[in-house]
Amino acid sequence: MSDQYSFPDSFLWGTAIAAHQVEGNNKNNDWWRWEQSKTPDRKYPLEPSNEACDFYNRYEEDFDICQEFNTNAIRLSVEWARIQPKIDVYDQTAIDHYKKMFMAARERGLQIFLTLHHFTSPVWFADRGGWHARDAVAIFRQYAQVCAEEFSDYVDAFITINEPQVYALKSYTDGTWPPNLRNPWLSYYVQINLMRAHRSAYDAIKTICDTPVGLAKNIVWYDTNPFASNLIDRAAARFLNYLNDDFFLLPLMGKIDFLGLNYYFTQRLHYLRIDNPNDYVSDMGWWINPGGLGEILQKLKKYKVPIYITENGLADATDRYREHFLRDMLIACGQAILSGVDLRGYFHWSLMDNYEWHEGFWPRFGLVEIDREHNLARKPRQSFYYYAKVCQNNTVEVN
Ligand code: FCB
Repeated sequence: MSDQYSFPDSFLWGTAIAAHQVEGNNKNNDWWRWEQSKTPDRKYPLEPSNEACDFYNRYEEDFDICQEFNTNAIRLSVEWARIQPKIDVYDQTAIDHYKKMFMAARERGLQIFLTLHHFTSPVWFADRGGWHARDAVAIFRQYAQVCAEEFSDYVDAFITINEPQVYALKSYTDGTWPPNLRNPWLSYYVQINLMRAHRSAYDAIKTICDTPVGLAKNIVWYDTNPFASNLIDRAAARFLNYLNDDFFLLPLMGKIDFLGLNYYFTQRLHYLRIDNPNDYVSDMGWWINPGGLGEILQKLKKYKVPIYITENGLADATDRYREHFLRDMLIACGQAILSGVDLRGYFHWSLMDNYEWHEGFWPRFGLVEIDREHNLARKPRQSFYYYAKVCQNNTVEVN
């Protein structure tokens, strides 16, 4: 075993954020409406996003940090509700704002991976039935095409939709996120619609430009206890892993130039219950298992498309695990590359602490701390110095 892993020269070292979680005052989308209409009898969301990190105004300061810490790429999203405030209106001011933002990133040497839909939708879209409406796909296609026309000169890759299955599950099965429905059939239908939306947006973008188009897929790794595994659990893990990858990804092949992988945790099954060792957990209680990342990367090899890790990170307010986490996950990446996985980049979630959806602001995912008591001051955490070293040397040391 080597004591260091070197990455290809062209490897992208980045961080990731999403519009609604950082921009602030995204008043025209379904999330804002839900956050602001909270009643005392409702637990979630724990708090509204309000000004979030005020990234909409402070992006230059944030890109300065990205540059200072040697990253060469950023994954971010545009807010659909700003770009298309009404079904028949595209807002040129918002579009120009994003162009300025992209220029600011490029001037600081950052390649841009742009997500078009990261969980939030304009209120008018939600009111017409959202992702379970019949013409949702056609509407999204048109928006994607406008984004390609306006932004293809600025961005290096498009990600159509973030974590379609997580969205369908949260919004339509367990009902935690808007539109807060609990209907497994609808949830399934929405998954199919999101697949169709990706395929259609892919075609629309390709009529405008050659920019690579992919999607960001959350994959949980399911495994069994190696010392106490049984046939039922092994079969269940296999099936759940199938639902996470092949079920969703196979129908998209041919309409994907790269795969974005969002990996956070592993679930270990024991007699069909989750039974994680929990020796290494984040503030969210997610079991950290770098081995799961390695397993997924091996499984994704068969699709024969380039892979980027578009999200990987942990909530860790005191920063006690983040450096170890990064090292362990990046070693898994280095090993995967050595074994022939076409892994081309790593985007850590997240650049900064942000609005973690229904949980509000308490989970701290940032390489940069946002001091909410002091004017949202940006304070890079110790672990960011470690990551900066990796990015600069293009190498991860094992010890
Ligand atoms: C992912 C989301 C991202 C963030 C992280 C913690 O599922 O894509 O927005 O909330 O989890």
